[in-house]
Amino acid sequence: MQKSIDEAARILMDSRMTIALTGAGISVESGIPDFRSAEGLWATYDPAEYATIQAFRNDPEKVWRMLREMDEVVGRAKPNEAHTGMGELEQMGCLHCVITQNVDNLHQAGGSREVIEYHGNSSTLSCLWCGKQYRTEAKRGEIPPLCECQKVLKPDVIFFGEAIPEYAMRRSFELASSAEALLVVGTSAVVSPANTLPSVVKRNRAKIIEINKERTHLTDTVTDIFFEASAGKVIPQLVAAIRERKGSDG
Ligand code: APR
Repeated sequence: MQKSIDEAARILMDSRMTIALTGAGISVESGIPDFRSAEGLWATYDPAEYATIQAFRNDPEKVWRMLREMDEVVGRAKPNEAHTGMGELEQMGCLHCVITQNVDNLHQAGGSREVIEYHGNSSTLSCLWCGKQYRTEAKRGEIPPLCECQKVLKPDVIFFGEAIPEYAMRRSFELASSAEALLVVGTSAVVSPANTLPSVVKRNRAKIIEINKERTHLTDTVTDIFFEASAGKVIPQLVAAIRERKGSDG
């Protein structure tokens, strides 16, 4: 493991532009379940019934039963050492942007300033009918949360069947096309278009470092260094190895 850590640290230090692609796995150590692990959210709630925009429009009260469960967990969650470690990598100039599929705001809370959110952010809610927006915590306790126009509010997250924010798509592919290194953390990489970024990065022969508790389809195709371990364990080791090298490099 230490040899891989040292090799990955060297890649991150040598790369003139590094981006990260993160998924729900990076927030599991903050107490937020991921989706597709055995104990993930989709083991309890069928995404076809609870996570599509059509399901929300048809029966928002039903979808809010799942959303409320997630919101209670996200509302209590704090950034873990993987999030804060990525904030430190940015401060050290070894990570230029985090592209995340998560909606929990934990990268920002962990110190990352450059964050692109593919699936929105759960800290605000909007009314699909009158457009009014509210802070989620202002409506915590209301099941389901209602707009002053009495319609059920929707979290500002992307449901299946909704488009990825145009800025997120454009900017992430711009960055991927000139990245020299990509850090893939805690994603099963099964949902597009986020899961196409590693192949875009690979086209310019960038190095890919993957941290995941299990192998993914990236592992044996585009990944250069694979850590089969938790993000909260590996990222702090990467940060420490870079700090040590920077110290010895003077
Ligand atoms: N450290 C690293 N990896 C982890 C950890 C951990 N502590 N815990 C779990 N993982 C891994 C799991 O093994 C899994 O491979 O993280 C991955 C999480 O995959 P998913 O649950 O599929 O989550 P994600 O890839 O983010 O899903 C993408 O699908 O359902 C939609 O909109 C939802 O944004 C989500 C998208």
